[in-house]
Amino acid sequence: MRLNKNLIMLLSAATLSFGVASMSAQADEQPYTVTDGTHLDANSYNGFKLFRNWCARCHGTYGQGMVGPNLADSLKSISKEEFFTVVENGKAGTIGSMPPWKANAKVMEGREALYAYMKARSDGAIGEVKPKKAK
Ligand code: HEC
Repeated sequence: MRLNKNLIMLLSAATLSFGVASMSAQADEQPYTVTDGTHLDANSYNGFKLFRNWCARCHGTYGQGMVGPNLADSLKSISKEEFFTVVENGKAGTIGSMPPWKANAKVMEGREALYAYMKARSDGAIGEVKPKKAK
């Protein structure tokens, strides 16, 4: 009897967390559109250009990683808010040191676009290819 009760509690906890996970997935709508595997919507394309200008020298041209980590992988485990926080304040961790970008208006204003491009990479919607801007 006691075991059954624990099992029920465990199951309802699992159902609850599943519910929360699917809710947050819904709230976080797909921020990009990729057509033909290479064409990005204007916002994500702008994100790629910002990425190339400011981030690629450490994270690789398409975010695949270099001295900085592979961000396509990172975005599978960090949230959009965490992404924004690291971009704003930087991060000194076990891999190395990521500079803060809060003094760079272009990067700060482009955070949504940067995230959109990197999310498209992370979801596998676009690979390690040079994107084009959709017409
Ligand atoms: C000078 C090199 C350098 C530049 C330029 C740079 N980064 Fe980083 N970044 C790093 C390093 C190194 C880390 C890993 C820090 C650690 O955890 O040890 C990192 C970590 C990150 C993380 C956290 C990843 C995770 O898994 O927690 C994000 C997000 C990130 N960078 C985004 C960006 C973006 C966006 C830009 C461009 C605006 C950028 N970085 C520019 C070096 C850089």
